Formats: sequence, C-alpha cells, structure tokens
Amino acid sequence: MNSDRFKTIGVIGAGTMGSGIAQAFACCGYAVRLQDLSAAALDRAIQTITGSLDRLLKKGSLTETDKQAALTRIQTATAVESLQGCDLVIEAATENESIKVKILQGLEAIVGPEVLIATNTSSLSVTRLAAQLQHPGRFIGMHFFNPVPMMPLVEVIRGLQTPESAVQAIVELAQAIGKSPIVVKNSAGFVVNRLLCPMINEAVFVYAEGLATAEEIDNGMKLGCNHPIGPLALADLIGLDVLLAVMNVLSEHFEDPKYRPAPLLKEMVDAGLLGRKSGQGFYHYH
Ligand SMILES: NC(=O)c1ccc[n+]([C@@H]2O[C@H](COP(=O)([O-])OP(=O)(O)OC[C@H]3O[C@@H](n4cnc5c(N)ncnc54)[C@H](O)[C@@H]3O)[C@@H](O)[C@H]2O)c1
Repeated sequence: MNSDRFKTIGVIGAGTMGSGIAQAFACCGYAVRLQDLSAAALDRAIQTITGSLDRLLKKGSLTETDKQAALTRIQTATAVESLQGCDLVIEAATENESIKVKILQGLEAIVGPEVLIATNTSSLSVTRLAAQLQHPGRFIGMHFFNPVPMMPLVEVIRGLQTPESAVQAIVELAQAIGKSPIVVKNSAGFVVNRLLCPMINEAVFVYAEGLATAEEIDNGMKLGCNHPIGPLALADLIGLDVLLAVMNVLSEHFEDPKYRPAPLLKEMVDAGLLGRKSGQGFYHYH
C-alpha cells in the first residue's frame, strides 16, 4: 500500500532511528532520501539496513528482489538540498533542541510551504519546535519506536498549531507502512515514555534499595505482568543516559517530585555505565 499524497520521503539523520525509518518506508515502495552531515553515518546506515533486510530474507519475510528494490529506493546525501522535491521530511537527528531548530529552519528554506515536516523527537516539545518555523501548521511529531522495522507503534503528536488535516495525513501514512498509530497531544514524554520511563526509574529505586536482584526484578515484571522484557534489561537496551534525559525532561516539565530520577541512575550515567552500548549497565555485555 502506498499513501497517494506522499511518494518521496526525506529523512534527516541516519543514526539508529533514521536508518530504521528509511528502511520501513523503502520496504513499502516509497522513494527515500536519507540525509546526514556525516558520510560515515550514511555508510553505516546502509550497512545496517542491508543487514536487517538480510535477516528478513533468511526468515522468508522478503525475497532477494524485494531486498534489492528496497535498497535502490534509498538515496543518501550529505547535502540538505538533496531533500528538495520530498513530499514529507522526517527529522531524526540528534536529540538536541538547538540542533533540531537549525535543521528545521534550514529545511524550510529548501522545501515548499505545502511540504509537511515531522520530528521523531522522543522528548522535545513539538509546539515549541513548530514555533520556530515560518509555517508552524506544517509541523507534527511522528514518533517511531526502536527497532523501527519491527515495532508497530507510531505516536502522532499534535502540536498546538498542528491542523487536523496534517494529523489525518500522518495517521494514514503510518498505516500505509503497516504501523498502528495513536494520536497524542503535545506533552513531555508524550504517552508511552511518560508511562514507561517512570516505571523503569522505579525499578532502579527498587534495585538500589536491595529489595531483589536485577534478575529477580526483571523476572517479576515478565512473569507477573506479562512484559516481554524486564525493566532493568530494557533500561540497558534504551541506554541509561537516554532514560536519565527523559526523566529530567519529565521532572522539569511537570515540576512533580514523582518524576525525580533515581540517584543510582545518575551515578551509573556519571560512571559511564550506559547499558548495552557501553558493555555494562544492570547486566554485563560482551
Ligand atoms: N534511539 C531510540 O531508541 C529512539 C527512539 C525514539 C525516538 N528517538 C529520537 O530519534 C532521534 C534520533 O535518535 P537516534 O537514536 O537515531 O540518534 P543517533 O545518535 O543514532 O543518530 C543521530 C544522527 O543525526 C545526525 N545529525 C546530527 N546533526 C545533524 C544535522 N545537522 N543534519 C543532519 N544529520 C545530523 C548524526 O550525524 C547522527 O548520524 C532523536 O530525536 C531521538 O530522541 C530515538
């Protein structure tokens, strides 16, 4: 299925999320322009996508022809001008407000006012980012989950200035690539991270208080609540620095002590124990 309004999708940022978003659209027949300042990041993204498609090929979920067709639909470039002619551009660059504002303002100088611009931010205010644009009504949140090709959810985030027509268009597009969108008002952490991150943070308190081992805490939530992965293993997967950043955003935004980050979480981040990506978090990784 291919949503009619959108044929060419631009993706800014070719990291974990940008490469996954590019793959998800390319596999559903969309032309993708993947842009990153770093040529090395673009090379890594193509390697990651190729590896992911190879795994799907092995599982029998796609054919060699599908794989090649998806890869040829993805064009990469370091120049932002390569995004001219896109029908939608999804910003998936580093989680930093000033970086994103610079990207969005530069982009607005390149694409026409009818082109929708979405952000994949996991914590920044969609309303505040939109306010930096000349046409705030073209801006929306399209929050994918990691790993993008596997995870069905997209949170569609309506900023205060986002019109219903843009919300509908992005909902239909998410459905066209096989995702199940939910529509959410702009607010810190949106819906899923607002619920998930405090739960993981509480698991860190429980661990720090010595109530149980990491394995026991994780087994408790897997076996007692039917979670597919325990909260501490999930913290390691997300990255403890990312989790701390989200808790800090929730804390600052709501000014409610229930969102205070667990002291052990802060200390582990200070120590560089970030989870899987650093080799050590609540568990050890080789
Ligand atoms: N990692 C996750 O699990 C996850 C989940 C949902 C949403 N997000 C959000 O997605 C976004 C990207 O996260 P990620 O994990 O893919 O980050 P990442 O660090 O893996 O990738 C970010 C990429 O952006 C590029 N970049 C930085 N400045 C740029 C610029 N000016 N122009 C073009 N490219 C630029 C970097 O070179 C890098 O390749 C963030 O907003 C993050 O909050 C992340």
